Amino acid sequence: MRSPLQLISSLIFGIFILNSCGKGGGTPATDPCRGVTVTVTSSITNPSAPGQSNGSLVASATGGTGFSFSLNGGAFQSSGSFNNLASGSYTVTAKSSTGCSGTGNFTLTANNPCAGLTITVNGTFTNPTGPGTNNGTISASASGSSGFTFSIDGNAYQSSGNFTGLGGGLHMVTAKDLNGCTGTANFTLVAPDPCAGVNIVVTGTVTNPTSASSANGAISTSATGSTGFTFSLNSGAYQPSGNFTGLPAGNYTVTAKDANGCFNSANFSLVAPNPCSGVTVQVTNAITGVTPCQLPANGSITATPSGGTSPYTFSLNTGGYQPSNIFNGLVAGSYVVNAKDVNGCIGSGNAVINSLPAGPLFNAVKALLQAECVSCHNAALQNGGMDWTVDCNIVTFKDRIKIRAVDGTPSSMPPTGLLPLSERQKITNWITAGGRYTD
Ligand code: HEC
Repeated sequence: MRSPLQLISSLIFGIFILNSCGKGGGTPATDPCRGVTVTVTSSITNPSAPGQSNGSLVASATGGTGFSFSLNGGAFQSSGSFNNLASGSYTVTAKSSTGCSGTGNFTLTANNPCAGLTITVNGTFTNPTGPGTNNGTISASASGSSGFTFSIDGNAYQSSGNFTGLGGGLHMVTAKDLNGCTGTANFTLVAPDPCAGVNIVVTGTVTNPTSASSANGAISTSATGSTGFTFSLNSGAYQPSGNFTGLPAGNYTVTAKDANGCFNSANFSLVAPNPCSGVTVQVTNAITGVTPCQLPANGSITATPSGGTSPYTFSLNTGGYQPSNIFNGLVAGSYVVNAKDVNGCIGSGNAVINSLPAGPLFNAVKALLQAECVSCHNAALQNGGMDWTVDCNIVTFKDRIKIRAVDGTPSSMPPTGLLPLSERQKITNWITAGGRYTD
């Protein structure tokens, strides 16, 4: 009989076996691998170079006997040697005769065939014979390894280190050995400058256009210092002749280029004759003075130009030019009138606009008001809002003056009774004449 404790212990042991062996049902059995550790070790031979599959593993195992070996889950074999391996990670599984197994992970890394290798490229070169001429050469060789092929400027590899048809500039030659190990060298080919020491001088004469609007000027140039010249005006197309015609006034650059493309240039100016030289435009002004006490202002200038060529335009002070020679609506003051003729020749004349003096009819009315009315109509005492000591008040309110002092409506002014007819007639005469300050 087992004690209850022993029974529980047996059940736990049986459950452990089930989990360990993965066997379902059946009678609990002793696991032969329990407590057994299979350890896999291996010697490693790396591939001799990247891309090579000549590495190998020689695996052995401890923790049992009668081992067979499997690589990466493949078939088991009695030998632990695996050959023809490329770089990579491998898992070797060793299984003993009792079925107990263990694994080992191993990494094969290709040897770097270029480590410690220094490939040196040497060579000679010949420069191209001129700019743009691709006839330079490089003859390169390499040392430090063997089986070289050569590439220039990143182009395809070739067996020879000789390169032809090269232009001026920096060229890089790369030498590569059988294992892909490389070395480089730079060669700078310099095309000789055909313009060194060449001193081209451009000279010429100009014919000015006959007027500012005429395109009939010309530049006649030639060049010295080399041969085979062609000529260009203002960076235009090159032509064999150094003569350029049909030109308006302006600044020009003529460039002369020789057969080798060496060039120099010179500047020329074509100047149109000044149409105003010897021309003096004068302006005389007829002036209408300003009538005081009325708006808008009515000063006026009428300009008369002479000395230039019609038609003229006119400007007042710094204003814009206009076709009319008359300026209206001006206040009193000093003005400058400018006249510009058809060729742009300008002259000017001064004009002073004064205020016109008081007229005799106005003066008569003014005197009347001073005598008869200002005692009740002045700055301090403005009966009815009226102050007859101010001249322009007389002009502005002339109609009121007439109604009160001539017509007597609704009541007479002065309030004591209408003035004598001869006095009232002065008011009537002035208003009939226009009622202005100047009448
Ligand atoms: C003694 C004082 C006195 C004298 C002198 C006098 N005025 Fe007057 N005036 C008045 C008073 C007061 C009023 C306001 C009452 C009215 O409008 O009748 C007036 C008003 C006026 C008005 C404004 C009324 C309106 O119709 O708009 C006018 C114009 C006027 N006077 C013109 C004159 C003239 C012109 C004279 C001189 C010829 C004159 N007055 C002399 C006292 C006087």
